[in-house]
Amino acid sequence: MADRATIRRLKKLRQAINLHNHRYHTLDDPLVSDAEFDALMRELRAIEEADSSLVTPDSPTQRIGSAPSERFAEVVHPQPMLSLANAFDGSELAAWHKRAAALLETERFAMVCEPKIDGLAIALTYEDGLLVRGATRGDGARGEDVTPNVRTINTVPLVLLGKPPRRMEVRGEVYFPRDAFARMNEERAEAGEPLFANPRNAAAGALRQLDPRITASRRLDVWVYQLGWTENGDGAGTHEPATHSEVMAWLGGFGLRVNPEMTTVASLDEAEAYHERWLGRRAEVNYQTDGIVIKIDRRDFQRHMGFVGREPRWAIAYKFPAEQATTRLLDIRVNVGRTGTLNPYAVLEPVQVSGVTVKQATLHNEDDIRRKDIRVGDVVIVERAGEVIPQVVGPVLEFRTEAQVRYEMPERCPVCSTPVVREEGEAAHRCVNARCEAQAYERLKHFVSRGAMDIEGLGERLVGVLLDEGLIEDFPDIYGLEHAQLAALDRMGEKSAANLIAAIEASKRRPLAAIISSLGILHVGGETAELLARRFGGVPRLADAAQDDLESIDGIGPIVARAIVAHFENEGNGRIVAELEAAGVRLESDETPAAATPQPFDGLRFVVTGRLETFTRSQVEAYIKERGGAVSSGVSKKTDYVVAGADPGTKRDDAERLGVATIGEAELVELASAEGP
Ligand code: IVH
Repeated sequence: MADRATIRRLKKLRQAINLHNHRYHTLDDPLVSDAEFDALMRELRAIEEADSSLVTPDSPTQRIGSAPSERFAEVVHPQPMLSLANAFDGSELAAWHKRAAALLETERFAMVCEPKIDGLAIALTYEDGLLVRGATRGDGARGEDVTPNVRTINTVPLVLLGKPPRRMEVRGEVYFPRDAFARMNEERAEAGEPLFANPRNAAAGALRQLDPRITASRRLDVWVYQLGWTENGDGAGTHEPATHSEVMAWLGGFGLRVNPEMTTVASLDEAEAYHERWLGRRAEVNYQTDGIVIKIDRRDFQRHMGFVGREPRWAIAYKFPAEQATTRLLDIRVNVGRTGTLNPYAVLEPVQVSGVTVKQATLHNEDDIRRKDIRVGDVVIVERAGEVIPQVVGPVLEFRTEAQVRYEMPERCPVCSTPVVREEGEAAHRCVNARCEAQAYERLKHFVSRGAMDIEGLGERLVGVLLDEGLIEDFPDIYGLEHAQLAALDRMGEKSAANLIAAIEASKRRPLAAIISSLGILHVGGETAELLARRFGGVPRLADAAQDDLESIDGIGPIVARAIVAHFENEGNGRIVAELEAAGVRLESDETPAAATPQPFDGLRFVVTGRLETFTRSQVEAYIKERGGAVSSGVSKKTDYVVAGADPGTKRDDAERLGVATIGEAELVELASAEGP
């Protein structure tokens, strides 16, 4: 018999888990990290396992997920959509493998290792090769009919290739590609809209939009990882492959998007190595992963092993260490960026997140702090997704007491004490003092950086020293520096001073786009600078451009256009341009502006895939862009050419399916000269 304290704990756990399930699945707005949720589930399972009389049908251990929201039609899954058991370390994985070996009465069985995609499960039903339904998992037994939304996902084939079974359901994971997610948040930030905290929740939100046009604009993607069920009908003559790996290849042949990273392994050691390798590579791919999935390859073995509860015995999720953690928010401070923006950041009680100690995290802007209702003193969720700077996802409201205080942005710049302003339609507070020291430092750091004037030997530290010594105040002063002044500085010899003078000299002939980017115009990064360079051919013409002129450029919206006009209207900025010119910095491009010279790839869209021989990935992208072309990440009907190297993967198949031409590197180069002016 369990004691009273255990029963109380059991009730608390169930309550908390139900709440978190609802927040996560129905509201797409979780309160705790996955790791913490897993910990609660494990504790509950342990209590129930110790005394099975405590298990009730309504315990969260007896089902997965939560009920679908009422906005969509309900779908009853012909076969339940299951969950996976987790292993959090090597010994848990070994225990799983040992049990499998005992059930199969052999240790010789192949397994398939594949990335565990951190998105949301989807079931796609095809009849006579046509997509007839897309459904979410819901609680595993019943999900939501989201067919119109699923149809907007470019990589979900509406029609299958080849000879699929008459009726078939495949399962996979819908996710938000990292680049599309970052782009969306950039656009939202520019438009002053609240940002999405992480791709998984944004994907769930997008897939469950009542208006499919919104889903379409979010550019979701899918990986198919399982065959649900098939029904062959009379005489269809399709027979299913005998192993999971063959099934995946078979599904790939129908045009379904199957992850090429799936690998068959023969031993536990190899599975461990795969996990280890992915842990190091997870930031490189365009999707979020939270572990790997290991599945026993032979399907007759799978059938023999069966299920326990809602989890197959023949598969296991081998999780990565959590990318989220909770900690105490000690303080909110601001630093001043190079455009004068006041950037609030969180000072945190140090916490380990995916193997790194995090002490600070960004908080974006005041609206974001308000929207998430983050207060100083809160327990907050901190996230490190990929190589992104740590973010505060939100507070854990259950820990909220009276003690936490709302945050107010400072009224004055913390560096120069000038009153800050917040322009209408802008999310950021700004120090508008052009002579603010903090801005000067940040602006100069940006000016000399690699993507801008690229002055080698003039790093952050030296910029600080030159400012402190009063040798420079703004960009043009760099060109007045003398050898003797530099050589006299601490940690600077004759030789380094001479090298630096040479580097400064060389920077006078940087490409126009780099110069435009170096000016530190609000909202103008490298890509926009390239558009501007191509259109105007020189800084003086850009400085004279009218708002309409700027907005007529594909890729430049009203906010960016306004920022450019405002930049050059500022007297100080105008003077800087004149002084740079007087110092001998070339402000014109060698080429005539694009309006006059057609480029060979004008208006063409390319997708690059596979390993190329003569170009690296960034070289080929630069090659295409320099010639007026655009490079996108996914193949669509709008793509003109897919440039494919070795091991091209699914993009080449996509091209074939959509009738898009596939070319090699040599043909790309030929095309540049053939279509050239
Ligand atoms: S197989 C019967 N493979 O993880 C097992 N699931 O935690 C069916 N997931 O509901 C799942 N990547 O949404 C499988 N490569 C993968 C996966 C994967 C992500 C998700 C899936 C599942 C959840 C279980």
